[in-house]
Amino acid sequence: MSGPILSVEDLVAGYRPGVDIVRGVDLRIEQGEMVVVIGPNGAGKSTLIKCLCGLVEVRRGRISIAGEDVTGSKPHAIARRGVGYVPQRENIFPRLTVEENLEVGAMPFPGVEIGPAKERIFALFPRLAERRRQPAEILSGGERQMLAMARALIPAPHLLLLDEPSAGVDPGVVEIVWEKIEEVREAGATVLMVEQNARRALGMADRGYVLDLGQARFEGTGVELLSDPAIAELYLGGRPRDVDAAADEH
Ligand SMILES: Nc1ncnc2c1ncn2[C@@H]1O[C@H](COP(=O)(O)OP(=O)(O)OP(=O)(O)O)[C@@H](O)[C@H]1O
Ligand SMILES: [Mg+2]
Repeated sequence: MSGPILSVEDLVAGYRPGVDIVRGVDLRIEQGEMVVVIGPNGAGKSTLIKCLCGLVEVRRGRISIAGEDVTGSKPHAIARRGVGYVPQRENIFPRLTVEENLEVGAMPFPGVEIGPAKERIFALFPRLAERRRQPAEILSGGERQMLAMARALIPAPHLLLLDEPSAGVDPGVVEIVWEKIEEVREAGATVLMVEQNARRALGMADRGYVLDLGQARFEGTGVELLSDPAIAELYLGGRPRDVDAAADEH
């Protein structure tokens, strides 16, 4: 495939009439990249991601996946084009077992052979394999995020959209979540992730965008964004630090 896996041009979207939340965003992601979106609370990061998977109506602009215009497409149609989505909140079914959560993930995809798909996922997440018959509600924060990611990975998406994968995860185990994201990417997926843990996320990303007040204010490689004094001051809570140290930060 040539050209970007995802391209967003002049995207405008919102919820209430007359109030735009995403206000003219341009974004491009090449096949195999890991791209991070950071920005303050309420900047419109989750809204942007929801637009990309058809959950929020686009008011203006264009979204293309692998060169195909999908603006206005329904969520299931976008999912069938190989886009997986892990929402920021309510991203698992607590009353269902781990295994049932994965089966639900396969439902919209009649072509997915659930047996081999589950085994592929359990190989990636051995912790979930151990707990396959347990209800998801007893999982820890980190395990829940892994289950949410696992469910999105069942149909083997080409592009994975992650909205705050480290949220609600104990600092002691958050590193495992990052490792899993790296493994997913090494397995060939392109990853677009929104993260509060901006230094850590930029430290592992190829590129990043800073979204503020619904607009992409800055764009650059992870290293460029981490070492830019203005970005550090405004969005990373202080002066730029040694970039290698930031990347090593846990
Ligand atoms: N379903 C909704 N209906 C109306 N307004 C909404 C809805 N969801 C979000 N908003 C508003 O849109 C704005 C952006 O919200 P969004 O969740 O996209 O921000 P965010 O950047 O993801 O923030 P956070 O870092 O807190 O997750 C906020 O003002 C929020 O109140
Ligand atoms: Mg959000």
